[in-house]
Amino acid sequence: MIEYYNPVDVIFGKKKINKIARYADKYAMNKKVLLVSGRKAMREQGITTRIENLLKKSDYEVKNFEKAEANPTPELIDEGVNILRDGDFGLVVGLGGGSAMDCAKCMAILVNNEGSVIDYLENRRKLVNDGIPLIEIPTTSGTGSEVTMWSTIWDASAKKKYSLSDRKMYAKAAVVDPELTIGLTQRMTATTGMDALCQAIEAYWSRNHNPTSDKHALKAIKLIYENIENAYKDPSSITAREKMALGSLEAGLAFSNTKTTAVHSVSYPITAHFGVPHGLACALTLGSFIKYNSVSGNDNMPEGAERVKKIVNLLGCKSSEQSAERIVQMMKDMGLPTRLNEIGINEKDIDIIIKEGFTPDRVVHNPRIVTEESLRNLLRELL
Ligand SMILES: [Fe+2]
Repeated sequence: MIEYYNPVDVIFGKKKINKIARYADKYAMNKKVLLVSGRKAMREQGITTRIENLLKKSDYEVKNFEKAEANPTPELIDEGVNILRDGDFGLVVGLGGGSAMDCAKCMAILVNNEGSVIDYLENRRKLVNDGIPLIEIPTTSGTGSEVTMWSTIWDASAKKKYSLSDRKMYAKAAVVDPELTIGLTQRMTATTGMDALCQAIEAYWSRNHNPTSDKHALKAIKLIYENIENAYKDPSSITAREKMALGSLEAGLAFSNTKTTAVHSVSYPITAHFGVPHGLACALTLGSFIKYNSVSGNDNMPEGAERVKKIVNLLGCKSSEQSAERIVQMMKDMGLPTRLNEIGINEKDIDIIIKEGFTPDRVVHNPRIVTEESLRNLLRELL
Protein backbone atom coordinates (compact mmCIF):
# COMPACT_ATOMS: atom_id res chain seq x y z
CA MET A 1 0.00 0.00 0.00
CA ILE A 2 1.32 3.42 -0.91
CA GLU A 3 0.26 5.95 1.65
CA TYR A 4 1.58 9.34 2.56
CA TYR A 5 -0.12 11.54 5.12
CA ASN A 6 0.98 14.82 6.64
CA PRO A 7 -1.62 17.46 7.47
CA VAL A 8 0.71 20.20 8.81
CA ASP A 9 0.42 23.62 7.20
CA VAL A 10 4.10 24.32 6.46
CA ILE A 11 5.29 27.91 6.24
CA PHE A 12 8.96 28.16 5.27
CA GLY A 13 11.19 31.16 4.69
CA LYS A 14 13.18 34.02 6.11
CA LYS A 15 11.17 36.49 8.22
CA LYS A 16 8.05 34.28 8.17
CA ILE A 17 8.02 34.51 11.96
CA ASN A 18 6.88 38.13 11.58
CA LYS A 19 3.50 36.78 10.44
CA ILE A 20 3.01 34.57 13.50
CA ALA A 21 -0.14 36.44 14.55
CA ARG A 22 -1.69 35.79 11.16
CA TYR A 23 -1.09 32.04 11.52
CA ALA A 24 -2.39 32.19 15.08
CA ASP A 25 -5.56 33.90 13.81
CA LYS A 26 -6.07 31.01 11.42
CA TYR A 27 -5.98 28.31 14.07
CA ALA A 28 -6.45 29.67 17.60
CA MET A 29 -9.76 28.98 19.32
CA ASN A 30 -9.44 32.10 21.45
CA LYS A 31 -6.92 34.86 22.17
CA LYS A 32 -5.05 33.10 24.99
CA VAL A 33 -1.75 31.46 24.03
CA LEU A 34 0.68 29.27 25.96
CA LEU A 35 4.18 29.73 24.58
CA VAL A 36 6.32 26.68 25.40
CA SER A 37 10.09 27.05 25.20
CA GLY A 38 13.34 26.19 26.96
CA ARG A 39 14.72 27.94 30.01
CA LYS A 40 17.21 30.38 28.55
CA ALA A 41 18.42 30.41 24.97
CA MET A 42 15.26 31.73 23.30
CA ARG A 43 14.79 34.46 25.90
CA GLU A 44 18.47 35.46 25.74
CA GLN A 45 18.41 35.68 21.96
CA GLY A 46 15.32 37.89 22.08
CA ILE A 47 13.23 35.38 20.14
CA THR A 48 10.70 34.76 22.93
CA THR A 49 10.16 38.48 23.47
CA ARG A 50 9.82 39.06 19.74
CA ILE A 51 7.11 36.41 19.40
CA GLU A 52 5.31 37.65 22.53
CA ASN A 53 5.27 41.19 21.13
CA LEU A 54 4.04 40.09 17.72
CA LEU A 55 1.17 38.17 19.31
CA LYS A 56 0.33 40.89 21.84
CA LYS A 57 0.12 43.44 19.02
CA SER A 58 -2.76 41.35 17.67
CA ASP A 59 -4.47 41.27 21.07
CA TYR A 60 -3.28 37.86 22.18
CA GLU A 61 -2.71 37.21 25.86
CA VAL A 62 0.56 35.26 26.10
CA LYS A 63 1.52 33.03 29.02
CA ASN A 64 4.91 31.35 29.10
CA PHE A 65 6.03 27.86 30.01
CA GLU A 66 9.80 28.30 29.81
CA LYS A 67 10.77 24.99 31.33
CA ALA A 68 11.27 22.65 28.40
CA GLU A 69 14.65 21.00 28.63
CA ALA A 70 16.61 18.34 26.77
CA ASN A 71 14.91 14.96 27.10
CA PRO A 72 11.61 16.09 28.74
CA THR A 73 10.24 13.98 31.59
CA PRO A 74 6.63 12.88 32.34
CA GLU A 75 6.61 15.19 35.41
CA LEU A 76 7.44 18.20 33.25
CA ILE A 77 4.69 17.34 30.78
CA ASP A 78 2.12 16.93 33.56
CA GLU A 79 3.11 20.30 35.01
CA GLY A 80 2.49 21.98 31.66
CA VAL A 81 -0.76 20.09 31.08
CA ASN A 82 -2.09 21.27 34.44
CA ILE A 83 -1.43 24.88 33.45
CA LEU A 84 -3.36 24.34 30.23
CA ARG A 85 -6.23 22.58 32.02
CA ASP A 86 -6.59 25.48 34.46
CA GLY A 87 -6.46 28.20 31.87
CA ASP A 88 -8.91 28.05 28.91
CA PHE A 89 -6.14 28.44 26.33
CA GLY A 90 -6.96 28.67 22.63
CA LEU A 91 -3.51 27.93 21.19
CA VAL A 92 -0.22 26.29 22.15
CA VAL A 93 2.99 27.46 20.49
CA GLY A 94 6.13 25.31 20.74
CA LEU A 95 9.37 27.25 20.25
CA GLY A 96 12.84 25.71 20.22
CA GLY A 97 14.48 22.41 19.42
CA GLY A 98 12.90 18.97 19.44
CA SER A 99 12.47 18.84 23.21
CA ALA A 100 10.51 22.12 23.41
CA MET A 101 8.38 21.18 20.41
CA ASP A 102 7.77 17.67 21.79
CA CYS A 103 6.72 19.17 25.14
CA ALA A 104 4.29 21.55 23.46
CA LYS A 105 2.88 18.77 21.28
CA CYS A 106 2.37 16.42 24.19
CA MET A 107 0.82 19.10 26.39
CA ALA A 108 -1.55 20.32 23.65
CA ILE A 109 -3.09 16.87 23.18
CA LEU A 110 -3.22 15.83 26.84
CA VAL A 111 -5.10 18.92 28.01
CA ASN A 112 -8.24 17.44 26.44
CA ASN A 113 -7.54 13.84 27.48
CA GLU A 114 -7.88 12.80 31.11
CA GLY A 115 -5.14 11.58 33.39
CA SER A 116 -1.37 11.80 33.52
CA VAL A 117 0.97 11.41 30.55
CA ILE A 118 2.41 8.22 32.04
CA ASP A 119 -1.01 6.51 31.64
CA TYR A 120 -0.67 7.02 27.90
CA LEU A 121 3.03 6.22 27.69
CA GLU A 122 2.45 2.92 29.46
CA ASN A 123 -0.49 2.21 27.11
CA ARG A 124 -3.08 2.12 29.87
CA ARG A 125 -5.12 4.79 28.10
CA LYS A 126 -5.86 5.81 24.52
CA LEU A 127 -6.07 9.37 23.30
CA VAL A 128 -9.71 9.98 22.39
CA ASN A 129 -10.09 13.74 22.04
CA ASP A 130 -8.40 16.30 19.80
CA GLY A 131 -6.06 18.69 21.57
CA ILE A 132 -5.73 22.45 21.56
CA PRO A 133 -4.47 23.82 18.21
CA LEU A 134 -0.68 23.79 18.05
CA ILE A 135 1.86 25.83 16.08
CA GLU A 136 5.47 24.64 16.14
CA ILE A 137 8.43 26.96 15.53
CA PRO A 138 11.77 25.11 15.25
CA THR A 139 14.98 26.93 16.12
CA THR A 140 17.34 24.06 15.36
CA SER A 141 17.76 22.27 12.05
CA GLY A 142 17.45 18.80 13.40
CA THR A 143 14.55 16.90 14.82
CA GLY A 144 11.77 17.57 12.34
CA SER A 145 9.36 17.49 15.29
CA GLU A 146 7.38 20.35 13.73
CA VAL A 147 5.96 17.94 11.15
CA THR A 148 5.81 14.64 13.05
CA MET A 149 2.97 13.22 15.12
CA TRP A 150 5.03 12.01 18.05
CA SER A 151 6.73 13.27 21.19
CA THR A 152 9.70 11.61 22.83
CA ILE A 153 9.57 11.58 26.63
CA TRP A 154 12.29 10.31 28.95
CA ASP A 155 11.86 8.82 32.39
CA ALA A 156 15.13 10.00 33.93
CA SER A 157 15.07 7.74 37.00
CA ALA A 158 14.13 4.58 35.11
CA LYS A 159 16.47 5.59 32.26
CA LYS A 160 13.67 4.80 29.84
CA LYS A 161 12.56 6.39 26.59
CA TYR A 162 8.90 6.63 25.64
CA SER A 163 7.13 7.80 22.53
CA LEU A 164 3.59 9.15 22.44
CA SER A 165 2.22 9.04 18.93
CA ASP A 166 -1.15 9.69 17.36
CA ARG A 167 -2.47 11.40 14.24
CA LYS A 168 -4.33 13.78 16.55
CA MET A 169 -0.95 15.10 17.69
CA TYR A 170 0.09 16.75 14.43
CA ALA A 171 0.55 20.52 14.71
CA LYS A 172 -1.82 22.74 12.76
CA ALA A 173 1.14 24.68 11.40
CA ALA A 174 4.93 24.69 11.36
CA VAL A 175 6.63 28.06 10.92
CA VAL A 176 10.18 27.35 9.79
CA ASP A 177 12.16 30.59 9.67
CA PRO A 178 15.87 29.87 9.02
CA GLU A 179 16.89 33.17 10.63
CA LEU A 180 15.84 31.75 14.00
CA THR A 181 18.65 29.16 13.75
CA ILE A 182 21.45 31.75 13.41
CA GLY A 183 22.06 31.76 17.18
CA LEU A 184 22.61 27.98 17.39
CA THR A 185 26.00 27.06 18.81
CA GLN A 186 28.46 25.16 16.64
CA ARG A 187 28.03 22.08 18.81
CA MET A 188 24.23 22.17 18.48
CA THR A 189 24.51 22.83 14.76
CA ALA A 190 26.61 19.69 14.43
CA THR A 191 24.57 17.37 16.67
CA THR A 192 21.12 18.44 15.52
CA GLY A 193 22.27 18.49 11.90
CA MET A 194 23.57 14.93 12.21
CA ASP A 195 20.20 13.92 13.69
CA ALA A 196 18.51 15.32 10.59
CA LEU A 197 20.96 13.49 8.31
CA CYS A 198 20.26 10.20 10.11
CA GLN A 199 16.51 10.76 9.83
CA ALA A 200 16.79 11.47 6.10
CA ILE A 201 18.96 8.41 5.40
CA GLU A 202 16.85 6.14 7.60
CA ALA A 203 13.65 7.34 5.91
CA TYR A 204 15.11 6.44 2.53
CA TRP A 205 16.13 2.90 3.47
CA SER A 206 13.14 2.30 5.77
CA ARG A 207 10.84 -0.58 4.94
CA ASN A 208 8.00 1.93 5.15
CA HIS A 209 9.32 4.15 2.37
CA ASN A 210 6.97 5.29 -0.37
CA PRO A 211 7.45 7.48 -3.47
CA THR A 212 6.51 10.67 -1.62
CA SER A 213 8.70 10.01 1.42
CA ASP A 214 11.54 9.09 -0.99
CA LYS A 215 11.36 12.47 -2.69
CA HIS A 216 11.59 14.27 0.63
CA ALA A 217 14.35 11.98 1.91
CA LEU A 218 16.61 12.35 -1.13
CA LYS A 219 16.25 16.12 -1.13
CA ALA A 220 17.00 16.16 2.60
CA ILE A 221 20.12 13.98 2.37
CA LYS A 222 21.62 16.23 -0.32
CA LEU A 223 20.77 19.51 1.41
CA ILE A 224 22.05 18.43 4.82
CA TYR A 225 25.16 16.64 3.60
CA GLU A 226 26.20 19.57 1.42
CA ASN A 227 25.55 22.26 4.02
CA ILE A 228 26.10 20.94 7.53
CA GLU A 229 29.81 21.72 7.57
CA ASN A 230 29.24 25.18 6.09
CA ALA A 231 26.71 25.96 8.83
CA TYR A 232 29.17 24.65 11.42
CA LYS A 233 32.14 26.65 10.11
CA ASP A 234 30.21 29.85 9.50
CA PRO A 235 27.27 29.90 11.93
CA SER A 236 26.10 33.32 10.73
CA SER A 237 25.82 32.24 7.07
CA ILE A 238 22.14 32.62 6.29
CA THR A 239 22.59 30.65 3.05
CA ALA A 240 23.88 27.61 4.94
CA ARG A 241 21.26 28.05 7.67
CA GLU A 242 18.47 28.27 5.09
CA LYS A 243 19.58 25.09 3.36
CA MET A 244 19.94 23.26 6.66
CA ALA A 245 16.49 24.40 7.78
CA LEU A 246 14.98 23.18 4.53
CA GLY A 247 16.94 19.92 4.71
CA SER A 248 15.76 19.28 8.24
CA LEU A 249 12.16 20.05 7.27
CA GLU A 250 12.40 17.69 4.28
CA ALA A 251 13.83 14.98 6.52
CA GLY A 252 10.93 15.53 8.91
CA LEU A 253 8.40 15.23 6.10
CA ALA A 254 10.09 12.00 5.00
CA PHE A 255 10.40 10.21 8.33
CA SER A 256 7.04 11.50 9.61
CA ASN A 257 5.68 8.69 7.46
CA THR A 258 8.42 6.06 7.45
CA LYS A 259 9.62 6.39 11.06
CA THR A 260 13.27 5.73 11.78
CA THR A 261 15.24 2.46 11.80
CA ALA A 262 18.21 0.81 13.52
CA VAL A 263 20.34 3.95 13.91
CA HIS A 264 17.71 5.70 16.02
CA SER A 265 16.71 2.48 17.74
CA VAL A 266 20.23 1.90 19.06
CA SER A 267 20.66 5.58 19.97
CA TYR A 268 18.03 5.54 22.71
CA PRO A 269 19.93 3.53 25.37
CA ILE A 270 23.08 5.49 24.45
CA THR A 271 21.22 8.67 25.41
CA ALA A 272 19.30 7.20 28.36
CA HIS A 273 22.28 5.56 30.09
CA PHE A 274 25.23 7.68 29.05
CA GLY A 275 23.68 11.14 28.64
CA VAL A 276 24.79 11.46 25.02
CA PRO A 277 22.81 14.14 23.10
CA HIS A 278 20.29 12.60 20.74
CA GLY A 279 21.87 13.71 17.44
CA LEU A 280 25.32 12.52 18.48
CA ALA A 281 23.95 9.21 19.80
CA CYS A 282 22.47 8.61 16.35
CA ALA A 283 25.49 9.84 14.38
CA LEU A 284 27.83 7.46 16.21
CA THR A 285 26.42 4.39 14.46
CA LEU A 286 25.33 5.94 11.14
CA GLY A 287 28.45 5.00 9.18
CA SER A 288 28.43 1.48 10.64
CA PHE A 289 24.79 0.94 9.66
CA ILE A 290 25.45 2.23 6.14
CA LYS A 291 28.01 -0.56 5.85
CA TYR A 292 25.75 -3.10 7.56
CA ASN A 293 22.73 -2.31 5.42
CA SER A 294 24.74 -2.37 2.19
CA VAL A 295 25.04 -6.15 2.43
CA SER A 296 22.32 -8.24 0.79
CA GLY A 297 20.96 -11.29 2.53
CA ASN A 298 19.17 -11.65 5.83
CA ASP A 299 16.93 -8.93 4.50
CA ASN A 300 13.87 -7.29 5.89
CA MET A 301 13.53 -5.68 2.49
CA PRO A 302 15.07 -7.08 -0.70
CA GLU A 303 15.81 -3.68 -2.27
CA GLY A 304 17.63 -2.47 0.87
CA ALA A 305 21.16 -2.85 -0.50
CA GLU A 306 20.16 -1.05 -3.72
CA ARG A 307 18.82 1.83 -1.67
CA VAL A 308 22.07 2.06 0.28
CA LYS A 309 23.92 2.28 -3.06
CA LYS A 310 21.82 5.28 -3.99
CA ILE A 311 22.64 6.93 -0.65
CA VAL A 312 26.35 6.19 -1.17
CA ASN A 313 26.19 7.89 -4.59
CA LEU A 314 24.40 10.87 -3.13
CA LEU A 315 27.21 11.24 -0.59
CA GLY A 316 29.63 11.36 -3.53
CA CYS A 317 31.25 8.07 -2.52
CA LYS A 318 32.06 4.86 -4.34
CA SER A 319 31.38 2.35 -1.57
CA SER A 320 29.62 2.01 1.75
CA GLU A 321 33.03 1.83 3.46
CA GLN A 322 34.03 5.13 1.91
CA SER A 323 30.70 6.68 2.98
CA ALA A 324 31.23 5.51 6.54
CA GLU A 325 34.75 6.99 6.56
CA ARG A 326 33.43 10.23 5.12
CA ILE A 327 30.81 10.51 7.86
CA VAL A 328 33.38 9.85 10.56
CA GLN A 329 35.69 12.49 9.08
CA MET A 330 32.83 14.97 8.86
CA MET A 331 32.03 14.40 12.54
CA LYS A 332 35.69 14.82 13.50
CA ASP A 333 35.89 18.05 11.50
CA MET A 334 32.91 19.33 13.50
CA GLY A 335 34.59 18.42 16.79
CA LEU A 336 32.33 15.46 17.54
CA PRO A 337 33.54 12.21 19.08
CA THR A 338 33.31 9.23 16.77
CA ARG A 339 34.20 6.31 19.05
CA LEU A 340 32.20 4.95 21.95
CA ASN A 341 35.07 5.02 24.42
CA GLU A 342 35.50 8.75 23.80
CA ILE A 343 32.11 9.23 25.46
CA GLY A 344 32.68 6.81 28.32
CA ILE A 345 31.14 3.69 26.78
CA ASN A 346 33.30 0.59 27.22
CA GLU A 347 33.08 -3.12 26.44
CA LYS A 348 31.11 -3.82 29.63
CA ASP A 349 28.46 -1.26 28.61
CA ILE A 350 27.64 -2.92 25.32
CA ASP A 351 25.24 -5.40 26.97
CA ILE A 352 22.85 -2.68 28.12
CA ILE A 353 22.84 -1.07 24.66
CA ILE A 354 22.05 -4.44 23.10
CA LYS A 355 19.40 -5.20 25.71
CA GLU A 356 17.58 -1.94 25.13
CA GLY A 357 18.63 -1.09 21.59
CA PHE A 358 15.90 -3.10 19.87
CA THR A 359 13.24 -0.39 20.14
CA PRO A 360 9.94 -1.81 18.90
CA ASP A 361 8.48 0.11 15.95
CA ARG A 362 11.94 1.38 14.97
CA VAL A 363 14.40 -1.47 14.49
CA VAL A 364 11.85 -3.57 12.57
CA HIS A 365 11.89 -0.96 9.81
CA ASN A 366 15.60 -1.48 9.17
CA PRO A 367 16.18 -2.90 5.67
CA ARG A 368 18.45 -5.65 7.00
CA ILE A 369 17.57 -7.72 10.05
CA VAL A 370 19.61 -6.75 13.09
CA THR A 371 20.52 -9.58 15.46
CA GLU A 372 22.09 -9.40 18.89
CA GLU A 373 25.29 -10.81 17.46
CA SER A 374 25.44 -8.37 14.55
CA LEU A 375 24.76 -5.44 16.86
CA ARG A 376 27.46 -6.61 19.27
CA ASN A 377 29.98 -6.79 16.45
CA LEU A 378 28.98 -3.38 15.16
CA LEU A 379 29.30 -1.75 18.59
CA ARG A 380 32.60 -3.49 19.37
CA GLU A 381 34.09 -2.06 16.21
CA LEU A 382 33.10 1.38 17.45
CA LEU A 383 34.84 1.10 20.84
FE1 LIG B 1 16.14 11.98 15.72
